[in-house]
Amino acid sequence: MSLINEAGDYLTERAGAAPEAALILGSGLGDLAEEAENKRIVEYKEIPGFPVSTVQGHKGRLVFGTMGGKRVVFMQGRFHYYEGYSMKEVVFPIWVFNSLGVKKLIVTNAAGGINTSFKPGDLMIIKDHINYTNNNPLIGPNLEAFGPRFPDMSAAYSKELADIIRECAASEDIKLQEGTYLFLTGPSYETPAEIRAFRILGADAVGMSTVPEVLAANHCGIKTAGISCITNMAAGILDTPLNHKEVMETADRVKESFSRLIRCVIERI
Ligand code: HPA
Repeated sequence: MSLINEAGDYLTERAGAAPEAALILGSGLGDLAEEAENKRIVEYKEIPGFPVSTVQGHKGRLVFGTMGGKRVVFMQGRFHYYEGYSMKEVVFPIWVFNSLGVKKLIVTNAAGGINTSFKPGDLMIIKDHINYTNNNPLIGPNLEAFGPRFPDMSAAYSKELADIIRECAASEDIKLQEGTYLFLTGPSYETPAEIRAFRILGADAVGMSTVPEVLAANHCGIKTAGISCITNMAAGILDTPLNHKEVMETADRVKESFSRLIRCVIERI
């Protein structure tokens, strides 16, 4: 708890008024933070207790500012479990945001499409998730001041925020899919047999992020929304191998509409 408070105090000194909402920007979306007004930027490496991001194409900094009249904080670059961080390190920023008073969180990511009606480039509201890792950032002593020992996860993704995302997609004329996101540690992509199994389990998309942050946010009562960019069809659906380049290229291709959607959502939440 003391490191969380130390990081919180450090950020309050540098960023001024507390943000109302936090956004985690996934692959290709990082540039959205540049569009914030009155920006104050803090590098992760300067923040007490913050891990440092190592993935190519991910920056490692918080951008505080206003967008659509809302005070927001953007994470440009997130921490992945596959990088070797503990689950607690992955969600450390969420705990710091909570200590700053953040009440809403929007998480974005790149994901592989399992649902065969999806196309690369589609955006998907995450309606629910399957944690397929057998790990959980809340294992260990409970942060009693933040939330209960056994947090409810029956509405992990806020219906109210999902409605706003749907309204924004309609008004911005952006096609939107909806579905269940299945979380794996990575870093290897899945096998075709795994993808067939996950489809039977009810997953529509698969990825290597988001769920730890959503678990931590729900624990401390932060209302959460998740949006995936389907960057590729999951293994075995098409006759082509998967690669990170394709993921980045698709994310880059849709970043304009993805950014428009997120900007609209921020204005309305
Ligand atoms: N699998 C897992 N994670 C991913 C994928 C995928 O196909 N695409 C983007 N992130």
